[in-house]
This record gives sequence, C-alpha cells and structure tokens, in this order.
Amino acid sequence: MQSHELKLARHPQGKVRPSDFRLDMVTVPEELTPGDILVRNSWLSIDPSVRMRLGPTGPAGYLPPFRIGETLTGLAVGEVLESRDPGFEKGDTVLHIKGFREFAVVRQGSETLAGAGGVTRLDTSVHPPQSYLGALGSSGLTAYVGLQCIGGLTSGDVVWISSAAGAVGSLAAQIAKLRGHYVVGSTGSGEKVRFLLDELKLDAAFDYHSPDLVEALGCAAPDGIDLYFDNVGGAHLEAALYHLRTGGRVAMAGAVASYDADTAAPSPGNLFQIVAKNLTVQGFRAGAYDHLLGDMRAEVGSYLRDGRLVVEETVFDGLGSAPDAIVAMLQGRTVGKTLCCLR
Ligand SMILES: NC(=O)c1ccc[n+]([C@@H]2O[C@H](COP(=O)([O-])OP(=O)(O)OC[C@H]3O[C@@H](n4cnc5c(N)ncnc54)[C@H](OP(=O)(O)O)[C@@H]3O)[C@@H](O)[C@H]2O)c1
Repeated sequence: MQSHELKLARHPQGKVRPSDFRLDMVTVPEELTPGDILVRNSWLSIDPSVRMRLGPTGPAGYLPPFRIGETLTGLAVGEVLESRDPGFEKGDTVLHIKGFREFAVVRQGSETLAGAGGVTRLDTSVHPPQSYLGALGSSGLTAYVGLQCIGGLTSGDVVWISSAAGAVGSLAAQIAKLRGHYVVGSTGSGEKVRFLLDELKLDAAFDYHSPDLVEALGCAAPDGIDLYFDNVGGAHLEAALYHLRTGGRVAMAGAVASYDADTAAPSPGNLFQIVAKNLTVQGFRAGAYDHLLGDMRAEVGSYLRDGRLVVEETVFDGLGSAPDAIVAMLQGRTVGKTLCCLR
C-alpha cells in the first residue's frame, strides 16, 4: 500500500517556510505482525511544538529534533482498517502520534509524545473525532491542567491568558470564565481581540502589538492579576511579573514567541518580582497529567453538550496543506484549533 508522508526537507533558517518540508510516497507493509494496527489518518493536530523539532538541535529535555528526511510525528486521529491487536477492530476510531502521513501502523505501548497520544480508542458517538485533538484532547488537557493543577485557580482570581484566540488559550480562557473568574485575553490582531470579546465573552482583551505591553495589561486588569497562563514567554512573561499581585502564580505552558526565530526571545528583566511578591512560577507538560484526561473530559464535555463552549477550528485540506497549516498557525493566521483534514 502506498502512503504520502510529510518529511523534513531542511532545517528552517529563521521563520519556517512550506519549502522546509517535502511530501514523499512510501510503501506501508501489507503484512501486519501481531499487535500491529493499520490506521487511515483522518485528522492531524497542528501544534506549535513541532517547530521546536525542526532545527538541528532542540531545547534540552524536550522531544528530539527530526532528522532531515525523517517523517514528522504528531497527534492524529484515524480509522482502523485492519488490526492484529485483539483490543481493536476494523472501524474503530483511534488517537495516536503517527500523524503527518496518510496511513500509519501503530501499536499499543509504543512511543508517546512525552506521555500524550498513546494508542487509544475514541468514542465518537457524541463528539466528532477531531475534538479529541482539541477541546477533549491535548489542547483541553493543557488548559485544564494549567489552570487547575499548576495555576491553583482559586475563587476570585483575576486571570490573564496569552495567545487567547489559539487552541489552548481559547479553552483556558473559557474554562476560567465559566468558573466565574475575571478573564483577560491577549492576541495578535484587532479581529482576534473582537473574537475574544464578542464570541468568547472575555472581560477584557488587547492586541499584544500595542506599543507598551505593560500598560496594555494594566488597562485590562487595573487592580493586577492573580494567575498568568503563559503560552508566549518573553515580554509577555515580563509584563505578567510586573502586574501579578502578591502570592500570584504563573502556569507556563509554552513560549511560542521564541519558537519561530533564530534567537531566543529576551528573558524577563524583572525576575526579582518572583521573590518580591512571593510568586510561584511553574512549567508543565500536559502529557505528564494524562491520568486527568477523564476529569477534563467530564468538565469540558459537559460544557460542549450544553453549548456553553465556543469551539473554533481552522481546517486545512489534505496532507499537502500541512506545511501551510504549520506556517499559518505560527504566524497567527489561524483561530482556535489548527487542524489538517485528510478525509
Ligand atoms: N505544555 C504543554 O503540554 C503544551 C501542550 C500544547 C501546547 N502547548 C503550548 O501552548 C501554547 C499554545 O499552543 P496552541 O496549540 O494553543 O497554539 P495556538 O495558540 O493555537 O497557535 C499559536 C499562536 O501563537 C501566537 N503567536 C505566534 N508568535 C507569537 C509571538 N511572537 N508572540 C505572541 N504570540 C505569538 C499566534 O497567535 P496570535 O495571533 O495571538 O499572535 C499563533 O496563532 C504554545 O506555546 C504551545 O507550545 C503546551
């Protein structure tokens, strides 16, 4: 069987470009060995983290960089075509990490993305398959864990979420809002600011391109913030440290400002604020909290069933569009969860 796969063609110089990837045809083995599951992928998750794996080296302790000519991996949902694992049968919908290809042979207990994406059967009777890549998947878990376990969200907290129009940010912002908090969101354009205010109903929102980020955050949260959900890092984190109240918390999910650049974003110059105000700053990877997927799905699933959660998706069509999807998502030209549909 022939399958198209997306490979790294060269390490990006500065901002990633579609020409940094190439689509190749490969042969998928016809004969499955015991334990193998043959899957036709239908949805691919397009995540900023893929950018950190495209250079010759990556951040220490993170997922290893892709080699030139290697097929990319990433979270994906697909349909089982054939199974030699008694736990799965033809027609099942499954989650796994062998995205960026049309067909994949996967196995239970094989590699994950730092705990995320172990081969799992999905119940698509209520929610559509791609929701397990977004609200009910890694994006939802990141939002839930960041607010609850890392951020220690407490009654009355004022919360700032950066990249709030994105996959994780839009969910974190809405979960915090649904739990009754005053929520400020930031994003990269006036149109997205309107999305945060009009669609997600946040209390305040601003464009981070404003000439003074510290002032923009101060206008949105005049009495300070208690929790900063950091998706961006760099100057955003510095502004948060400035405005956090005593005893405040930072849940660091990511630092997208530094992913698509040759040089790292400058570190905050005001780290002493962490000491001065008894702040807690903690990073996390959602995969380490996979055991909370059930709890997250119970809460987020109920919001979805009640129609209380706005789920925005930007969908690209076909594997050939995956490079454009990666570039568009990193450049802020997508809203909500960025996906590639292969059906
Ligand atoms: N810790 C974990 O387990 C985990 C899991 C999933 C994701 N994450 C992290 O969570 C963050 C959000 O991920 P996501 O999947 O939800 O992606 P996303 O927010 O849907 O997409 C990335 C967005 O980042 C914004 N951005 C790009 N460059 C920026 C810059 N220089 N400054 C400020 N914003 C910039 C853009 O939106 P604008 O239009 O707003 O600029 C872009 O659309 C990322 O840092 C990601 O690495 C962490």
